[in-house]
Amino acid sequence: MTVAEAAPTRAPVPPLAARARGVGGSPVREILAVTARPEVINFAGGLPAPELFDRDAIAAAFRDVLANAPAQALQYSTTEGEPTLRAALAARTTARGLPTDPDDLLVTTGSQQALSLLATALLEPGDTVLVEDPCYLAALQVFGLAGARVVAVPGDADGVDPAALADAVRRERPKLLYLVPTFQNPTGRTMPTPRRAALAAVAAREGLWIVEDDPYGELRYDGERVPWIASLPGAEDRTVLLGSLSKVMAPGLRLGWLRAPAALRRACAVAKQAVDLHTPTLNQLAAARCLDALDAHVERVRAVYGERRDAMLAGLPAALPAGSRWNRPEGGMFLWARLPESYDTLALLPRVVEQNVAYVPGAPFYAGDPDPATLRLCFVTQTPEEIAEGLRRLGRGLGG
Ligand SMILES: Cc1ncc(COP(=O)(O)O)c(C=O)c1O
Repeated sequence: MTVAEAAPTRAPVPPLAARARGVGGSPVREILAVTARPEVINFAGGLPAPELFDRDAIAAAFRDVLANAPAQALQYSTTEGEPTLRAALAARTTARGLPTDPDDLLVTTGSQQALSLLATALLEPGDTVLVEDPCYLAALQVFGLAGARVVAVPGDADGVDPAALADAVRRERPKLLYLVPTFQNPTGRTMPTPRRAALAAVAAREGLWIVEDDPYGELRYDGERVPWIASLPGAEDRTVLLGSLSKVMAPGLRLGWLRAPAALRRACAVAKQAVDLHTPTLNQLAAARCLDALDAHVERVRAVYGERRDAMLAGLPAALPAGSRWNRPEGGMFLWARLPESYDTLALLPRVVEQNVAYVPGAPFYAGDPDPATLRLCFVTQTPEEIAEGLRRLGRGLGG
């Protein structure tokens, strides 16, 4: 008997689920992995500035919770969330024009989890989801993993076009429309009130859920606050509003929430039980203690981020090739640029990274036809001096 014949037979293990095979990681993740080198000025990540985290207040809150309520803070909690946090978040939402009861909210482990829960609660494999083009990348991933068909709705500088939405709803019979109406990721654009009202009217007339994802809304540097779609006539009973403490407090806390009509919220709570039972009690209680001081903190963050946005806007004309265009976001973290037609930002990225600077190519954000000349820049993570230096390097990398 040969050695080969003596070896025990080994049958292959069963394959991954189709939904896991079909959704790849981000195509730029590998290139961007090198941006972790400290010498790289990274305009690619969507990272809040760490020096602005209110570490003293957060540390004091954790100390206070552990000293005064350890049995509660270290114990299992309800799936819906800690009552003190829900009450404080509901009060903030109400104060911003959308009357909200604590029971209207489900606390989630980041707003990213809210997206996953909604996908579980609403989507069968093969269901259609409508999105903006371009769209937040990790939302595309959630919908892809749920086995949904993702269809981009055409739009303009103000966002999704209402007539195109009505056509798409009649043609595709989608379950939901996913929007980031304020300081969108990736474009930084904000949908004006009339456009929001028009989309709400289409959702009311045609029968459609709207998922309004708003992690950036409080980071406004100029202009007037725009009302949530969830507060507009016709949208109240069919809009899910997602919020997050990631961009205004700290993303490491992993605290978000969803505000949804009762039946959908209950289905999301059941889905959440299956995922993680509840969001960490300690983090919820500590964050609740920080909420009173959050407005003052956000005020400070806005002043700094606004300067950083202006620093990036000031440096772009010299950094990008002639004929490039970009927007001037009124808030948020991102700016969207389009280079002249012949440029391919994905192909150019390795050359740019050699100059120790990075952006995210725009193409992966598109569910429809990608525009290869686009790119996303995050303007909040570096100081104005670093931004100026990063843009000089970008200019060199792009061949300027
Ligand atoms: C549009 C959008 N939604 C959701 C998230 C997820 O945020 P969280 O940290 O609350 O999970 C992000 C994070 O970048 C985002 O840009």
